[in-house]
Amino acid sequence: MLSKVISSTLIGIDGFKIVVEVDISQGLPAFDIVGLPDSAVKESKDRVRTAIKNSNIDMPVKRVTINLAPANIKKEGPAFDLPIAVGILACIEAIKENSFNDIMIIGELSLDGSVKSVNGILPMVCTGKDIGIKKFIVPYDNIEEAGLVSDVEIIGIKTLIELINYLNGKNKIEPVNINIDNLLKSDTLNNEFDFLDVKGQENVKRALEIAAAGMHNIIMVGPPGSGKTMMAKRIPSILPDMSFNESIEITKIYSVSGILKNKNSLVIKRPFRAPHHTISKSAMVGGGRVPKPGEVSLSHNGVLFLDELPEFNRSVLEELRQPLEDGIVNISRVNGSMSFPANLMLVAAMNPCPCGFYGYSDKCTCSQNTISKYLGKISGPLLDRIDIQVEASAVNYEDLGVKGKSESSKDIKERVILAQKVQIERYKNDGIYFNSQLTAGLIEKYCELGEAERQILKGVFDRLNLSARAYHKILKIARTIADLEQSKNIGVTHIAEAVQLRNLDRKFMF
Ligand SMILES: Nc1ncnc2c1ncn2[C@@H]1O[C@H](COP(=O)(O)OP(=O)(O)O)[C@@H](O)[C@H]1O
Ligand SMILES: [Mg+2]
Repeated sequence: MLSKVISSTLIGIDGFKIVVEVDISQGLPAFDIVGLPDSAVKESKDRVRTAIKNSNIDMPVKRVTINLAPANIKKEGPAFDLPIAVGILACIEAIKENSFNDIMIIGELSLDGSVKSVNGILPMVCTGKDIGIKKFIVPYDNIEEAGLVSDVEIIGIKTLIELINYLNGKNKIEPVNINIDNLLKSDTLNNEFDFLDVKGQENVKRALEIAAAGMHNIIMVGPPGSGKTMMAKRIPSILPDMSFNESIEITKIYSVSGILKNKNSLVIKRPFRAPHHTISKSAMVGGGRVPKPGEVSLSHNGVLFLDELPEFNRSVLEELRQPLEDGIVNISRVNGSMSFPANLMLVAAMNPCPCGFYGYSDKCTCSQNTISKYLGKISGPLLDRIDIQVEASAVNYEDLGVKGKSESSKDIKERVILAQKVQIERYKNDGIYFNSQLTAGLIEKYCELGEAERQILKGVFDRLNLSARAYHKILKIARTIADLEQSKNIGVTHIAEAVQLRNLDRKFMF
């Protein structure tokens, strides 16, 4: 007796259809799973056997062979438990034949027969829908997530017995119905962090607004306690709300990583990730035997905050160069390469020296040598990908006391949204969205300067001895500043302000 059940596995952050073939034949009792299963899949047989027994059904004392087709794809995780159980039960006629044709079945089994949630339901259902599947049976705890996919029928299952009765037509289960508009509306603007709380630091706030407007990477340098961490946390609150597609993209990544909280199945807040500086390479960019997304992908469409930048392992920082350049991470493994999206805004913060006070107070006790070594830990190529550098000096006592003077995130966000609209419209035929993505060729096209502006820039260059790299960055930033003012041309004031946002080049000898 042979039966076939449709299921799915994950490749990167995409689902991939797998057919679970179950054969039960005469012979010595055995239970084999073939078709490149990983250890979690192999252990499936013990869970399935016990779950069936505890659902008061006798496991056949025969030779059971499971094939996961196609055989050349590695299968991982426990999500095949449920389709395997269904296949076996169909073979012994505990489940009606043909009752599960064209249904994708996904789920992990507990020994007592209850169905447990699995990672990656959203991408698996998305792919299923793309290849024409209309109905999905998933763990009850995953229905909020599966329900994000529209125009398909989602059935949530709590136990194996419930599923058997359902497929045999003995009980009815209503398909899930999720109101996506409600999900999108709920608590979007309810940011726990608001720029309203940040006193003083007007220059840093302005730099962050410019960074957000052009999606420029930014580094803040300043003594401890000047509010660098505090301000970084507030950046998502001034970025535009995510579109539904952006939300789905990041929800898929969270789903595969297993960090999705079920009740808020759709991620609607822009990610803000702040990994500790002891982080490993694979945790940062993704990896593992079966590659999983790293921090750069978990901050896709949002902010990756690297606090105390020089403390990070240099080789980990080097790994960031490619994703920052391409907006995507490629990971190669023996059985093929995989890519994860990684379109993010990098925000870094650092003290100017190990003690933190160099250049800001005579409290600094570091020698010139220690300081150079500290700054030298950040490589030129990484700094190359950071457009804006800003100093966060200590806050004045007077500023701290002032009540209600700061601008709220909501007001800043409105300006950012307008500036981004201008860019998206301008670059609609160039394959980019924001000024930070301008290439040298496009800079020439879109950042033209008048005579006065050119003179100013030349003066700055001669005086400060800037590099060609700084030249392009200043133009890009000036373009964003002009966009914030809805100005078509880049003016002298825009150039002047842009130059200010590169002044650490000199002060700290980067
Ligand atoms: N500009 C500011 N306005 C209000 N509070 C501030 C400001 N700067 C610092 N603080 C207070 O000091 C604390 C420490 O700031 P933090 O962001 O950790 O500094 P840093 O990261 O620069 O060392 C903050 O949690 C906040 O309570
Ligand atoms: Mg800090």
